[in-house]
Amino acid sequence: MRIAVLAGDGIGPEITAQAVRVLEALAGNGLALELEYGAVGGAGYDAAGDPLPAATLALCERADAILFGAVGAPRYDRLERALRPEQGLLRLRKHFDLFANLRPAVVYPELAHASTLRPDVVAGLDLLIIRELTSDIYFGKPRGVIVNEAGEREGYDTMRYTEGEIRRIAVTAFETARKRARRVCSVDKANVLETTQLWRDVVSEVHADYADVELSHMYVDNAAMQLIRNPRQFDVMVTGNMFGDILSDEASMLTGSIGMLPSASLNAKGYGLYEPIHGSAPDIAGKDLANPLGTILSTAMMLRYSLGQEQAAARVEGAVRAALRDGARSADIARDGEPTLGTVAMGDAVLARL
Ligand code: IPM
Ligand code: MG
Repeated sequence: MRIAVLAGDGIGPEITAQAVRVLEALAGNGLALELEYGAVGGAGYDAAGDPLPAATLALCERADAILFGAVGAPRYDRLERALRPEQGLLRLRKHFDLFANLRPAVVYPELAHASTLRPDVVAGLDLLIIRELTSDIYFGKPRGVIVNEAGEREGYDTMRYTEGEIRRIAVTAFETARKRARRVCSVDKANVLETTQLWRDVVSEVHADYADVELSHMYVDNAAMQLIRNPRQFDVMVTGNMFGDILSDEASMLTGSIGMLPSASLNAKGYGLYEPIHGSAPDIAGKDLANPLGTILSTAMMLRYSLGQEQAAARVEGAVRAALRDGARSADIARDGEPTLGTVAMGDAVLARL
């Protein structure tokens, strides 16, 4: 099994290095894994003038899965949009049709205190956000900034969804819910936006084939509030690209830190890109401060969803749980005064328990 490792920018290389150590440990233990490295994001721009260099795309084409770190840094923000680091990620998602983005938000018992919400609100949370990842206002055309008739600059983007795009993510949500608590909450803004009225209609139509799964609909503003008021009411949340981007960052704080959340971005064939949901955090890059657990947990998702290695996936998750149980804490999940581990030491803590 070949894995394309794209570390990217900021803390990307540091956190990815720890996930790679985990994969190498599994490889040394009989799992046939081969890792190959490629440049992406700002690193891709620096290496080849392109946030997704042709060599990197070719590497991903011959791989069975992609392990992705993070992209973006302030020094690239003034480049024209096509050359910005984020385009490397968005193009990969589009190229491989990675429409199904799974973002689980799980509260580990030891970390209930680490959330900014009271432990009694978040303890035991096990939520899965399913975000559509290849359409919506992220990719809709037309878009741009023009000078309008009044001589004023005017920016516009287009929110679009086809029926087929909604249908396939709805199927993913219902199928996934069947393996969980069988509840799907579809999030939209159907009271205002045409696109999301269609979203609501199509999700309801698909639901006809899943009578054993409970479906509810919620407006995105209410969903943002309910996530904080009573997050345990949710099992699976399914939503579009932009709402999912926002709600998954919000949900991450229920778990204590955005550094904890892994993700899988899958296409219809089960090929996937695996990355922590957080960004490149330029402010702490290179300081051995970043929490690598979101990336390490992303390798577990890779083993499970793309490589068919459920046992190895469970081993990685078990090692993370054990490290947390034994008190391993990076700065983002530590209580005041608690001793903290750097990025590498957190990797050590997981490896020791693997
Ligand atoms: C995410 C990120 C990306 C997104 C950025 C880096 C393009 O925020 O994966 O959530 O907006 O999808
Ligand atoms: Mg985001």
